[in-house]
Amino acid sequence: MRHILSCEQFSQSDLAGLFDLADEIRANPRHYADSLSDKVVATLFYEPSTRTRLSFEAAIVRLGGKNISTENAREMSSAIKGESLADTIRVVHGYADAIIMRHQDNNSANEAAAASRVPIINAGAGSGEHPTQALLDIYTIKRRKGGIDNISVAILGDLLYGRTIHSLIKLLSLYKNVEIFGLSIPSLPLPAEYVNYMADRGIIYQPVKSLADLPPNLDIIYQTRTQLERFATQGLAAEEIILNNAEMARFPPDTLVLHPLPRNREIAPEFDTDPRAAYFDQSENGMYIRMALLHKILTK
Ligand code: CP
Repeated sequence: MRHILSCEQFSQSDLAGLFDLADEIRANPRHYADSLSDKVVATLFYEPSTRTRLSFEAAIVRLGGKNISTENAREMSSAIKGESLADTIRVVHGYADAIIMRHQDNNSANEAAAASRVPIINAGAGSGEHPTQALLDIYTIKRRKGGIDNISVAILGDLLYGRTIHSLIKLLSLYKNVEIFGLSIPSLPLPAEYVNYMADRGIIYQPVKSLADLPPNLDIIYQTRTQLERFATQGLAAEEIILNNAEMARFPPDTLVLHPLPRNREIAPEFDTDPRAAYFDQSENGMYIRMALLHKILTK
């Protein structure tokens, strides 16, 4: 495994190996505390981030590596002076053993990989993909449910621009007998390429029109935020799907609610203390998955 660009590059056995390693690192952190002691890893973020950047940086530090970073690279790196992404990568790969990059353009990770002699890790590319988020999402489902085969998942919210949704669909498509229900904000439907992706792999996909149309025996409800940063104007506040205690009352005690975070209003804070609210556990799992991924990519 070299660059991490898209969830299409993973097999089910890649994921199983990564999840086992994440569990092993979690159980024996001291054993891995020096595994990146001779490595420098760059985090190059052209878009805002809390979880992805800090969990990657925590992962680097916890594995004994060193981190160089440009937060807000769109304004605080030489991109503001007109430097191309390819030129930036050709410079940074001289300083670092891997580059973790978030960027506003869907093709940015591929463009960076074409210019780089060190591994590029896609930490979110426009409205395209966010592969390491999907890895931690599936890892969370596996930890909480025991496996991924035979599960039913509802994907909610901004299915058009939600890159976490796009990557999640690709990983769920690796498993058997997965059923996916899609409840989008009406103006933000799932693009046809993802509907076709599921159909080609035998995934049963059913779009629905309201929360009331979802079957009550769901394993996972995956809620997402409207990606307002992808819009020229912010006029969509009236179109919301909100999960709260009343809406969740008809789902059983084992229906987990996931969300990549950050959230706005789409999950009411009153639900946070419900045992089915798994989203903060999910974000913590991200650090262990990213430790496993860095260990796999950067050590022999
Ligand atoms: N889930 C996620 O990508 O969060 P950040 O934007 O805070 O990194």
